[in-house]
Amino acid sequence: MTELYEKLFQPYKFSSGVEVKNRIMLAPMTHYSSDDQGYVTEEELAYYGERSAGVGTVITACAYVIAGGKGFPGQFSADDDAFIPSLRKVAETIQGKGAKAILQIYHGGRQSPPDLLPDKQPVSASSVASSEGAPVPREMTEAEIQEVIKAFGEATRRAIEAGFDGVEIHGANTYLLQQFFSPHSNRRTDKWGGTLGKRMIFPLSIVNEVEKTVAEHAKSPFVIGYRISPEEGSEPGITLDDTLQFVDRLANQNLDYIHVSVGHFWNGSFRESDRTESRIVKIYEKVGNRIPVVGVGALHTPEEVAEAMETGVPFIALGRELLMEPYWIEKIKSGKEKEIRTTLSKKDQEELVIPDPLWEKLVNVKGWLPVVD
Ligand SMILES: Cc1cc2nc3c(=O)[nH]c(=O)nc-3n(C[C@H](O)[C@H](O)[C@H](O)COP(=O)(O)O)c2cc1C
Repeated sequence: MTELYEKLFQPYKFSSGVEVKNRIMLAPMTHYSSDDQGYVTEEELAYYGERSAGVGTVITACAYVIAGGKGFPGQFSADDDAFIPSLRKVAETIQGKGAKAILQIYHGGRQSPPDLLPDKQPVSASSVASSEGAPVPREMTEAEIQEVIKAFGEATRRAIEAGFDGVEIHGANTYLLQQFFSPHSNRRTDKWGGTLGKRMIFPLSIVNEVEKTVAEHAKSPFVIGYRISPEEGSEPGITLDDTLQFVDRLANQNLDYIHVSVGHFWNGSFRESDRTESRIVKIYEKVGNRIPVVGVGALHTPEEVAEAMETGVPFIALGRELLMEPYWIEKIKSGKEKEIRTTLSKKDQEELVIPDPLWEKLVNVKGWLPVVD
């Protein structure tokens, strides 16, 4: 292994006290393969087992915290104590291979397909569809808002009881927490909406609830991460300046990291074309040393990851690359980095241990992965 990659292999101790052996994380990726009730299947456990030996941290696919927030067919559930044994299998599989296991906790809000919901009615901050023709959500009542905040706390308690090392609050990718932060989906005039500060109240209430749950229930150090999307394309929509104010608030919480979800690590603002510096780097500069930032997005080779870390961003999550190359870390360690795959061959499903429903999307949805044959 060359010196170039030394940064990737530095251990790190989060503020909670959890220690990880290196700076690479498996990015959260939904695998659409749990059973209809939300229990994890053997295929999913095999998928995690195959990808947990090298990386320091595995962030799981998003698990819904309440039935009204389910977002995908085959999504796994953290919405009831009945799922603790199912969640435990995920945690044990990941930890058994040597990585720390972080459960991503989620509510889909207006993005939930009506067919997956008990009453077929998505909910959100306000009754505004994401785009023309998309389902119109029902505005959440005060009682429903409180119920969802509690549900994030309860899912965290279940993650603790299942033996996870932490949770990542999914505040990104247009789902419910982002919907409350966004001026597009949040048109409320009560305490949960209006100014930028008020649009932060719902996500911050969830952070507080999760922190409280960890303080009450965790008997050993437990990570709390928060994932954001820095911008939205809609009008009105979240701007980079909104996000810089939000991360400033998040940095003062008892969080272990902020994870910035973008498609490409180096891309600048898509709302303001003159702001060309990487949004991840901007966020890193804003929070400074107060909280570590996790960067992600279209990084594949070890050189690309090392270059991204040269910016000072301390953690990198790899998503699609670890689908195509589960042994990414091991190949660097054994000096075989030139053998790291950065394309997908249709022949390799079995070797790559990818569940059928995810595989079908990867090979058929154009643009997701470079499929070579
Ligand atoms: C198949 C697939 C499923 C995903 N599921 C999730 C998810 O459950 N939660 C989440 O926050 N992001 C999800 N993402 C986004 C990834 O975590 C990541 O941010 C994105 O793929 C960009 O990183 P990459 O270029 O390294 O893949 C998913 C991405 C893919 C390709």
